[in-house]
Amino acid sequence: MNMLDQLKALEQEALATLAAALDAASLEEWRVAVLGRKGTLTHALRGLGQLPRDERPAAGAEANRVKDRLEAAFTTRQETMQQAEIARALAAEAVDVTLPGRPPSLGRIHPSNAVLRRIYAIFGQMGFQVYDAPDVELDEVNFQLLNIPPDHPARDMQDTFYTKDPRVLLRTHTSPGQIRAMRDHAPAPLRVILPGKCFRYEQVTARSEFMFHQVEGLAVGKGITMADLKGTLQEFANQLYGAGRHLRFRCSYFPFVEPGVEVDMDCILCGGQGCRLCKYSGWLEISGAGMVHPVVLRNGGYDPEVYSGFAFGMGPERITMLKHRIDDIRYFFSNDVRFLEQF
Ligand code: PHE
Repeated sequence: MNMLDQLKALEQEALATLAAALDAASLEEWRVAVLGRKGTLTHALRGLGQLPRDERPAAGAEANRVKDRLEAAFTTRQETMQQAEIARALAAEAVDVTLPGRPPSLGRIHPSNAVLRRIYAIFGQMGFQVYDAPDVELDEVNFQLLNIPPDHPARDMQDTFYTKDPRVLLRTHTSPGQIRAMRDHAPAPLRVILPGKCFRYEQVTARSEFMFHQVEGLAVGKGITMADLKGTLQEFANQLYGAGRHLRFRCSYFPFVEPGVEVDMDCILCGGQGCRLCKYSGWLEISGAGMVHPVVLRNGGYDPEVYSGFAFGMGPERITMLKHRIDDIRYFFSNDVRFLEQF
């Protein structure tokens, strides 16, 4: 076979095997076998030099034609294959834009936080700033500086989570924040609320959780009296539960106040007639309160001969339960959306 026929045969065969290459791997195999450095075409081109001089021009021209033809065929085949691959991917990954979407589920403010925000706003109008105090406290601040020495029976009312270090505990109420706020401000007059988590080592029931929130209030200055405490809480009750609430102040005992009171409000359900919510008393307990004890004032850095103050502590979960007639405090922390979605 002369060179021209050899080239034609090579071309025919190469085109035939190219047509049979159906995927990227066999296409690459073809490229190496034909156009590669050791491929059949390259081999044939090398053979041109051995031809007699007068045959070379025709053979050279034919060789170039075959080379162009095969390279073009390869490129075309490669492009077709890529197009087909893209078309296949598009078909496989097609999005049906006519399907109805899934609505994003919107979160919302947790009921405890919603009430906290209302409380901040109400006391904010009366000039109280929010003061942050730590959840992990010293026994000294949680108890001793609040006039509750070690072994004082008042500790029995607040079963405590102690840590390995006997000086460190989880605060049982927000009152230790009183000491921290006073020491931060003394001797300047002071009006703060101290919201936050409290912890008690108690059996969890419908009425008590081991973790709950409190909002402490504290005002210290010259000439502050029990009347200021009553007026402040009256205004708070009117704002949160509607105008014209009746409050009742009952004598009570907390070591860090003197006198100490328990604050009741007329029942929001029956208006004082007596019902299940208020256990037929007509009253709902909303806060502990009192005039800051002289010892506590002194521990906070204020001279009790010059300064006086009032303090109160309330539980926003309890307030929310009353407001929305929720009968089990455990709902607040169980993360059940069926509960949370109702607010
Ligand atoms: N700290 C008290 C409690 O947790 C509440 C309280 C606060 C009472 C401030 C009086 C004054 O029971």
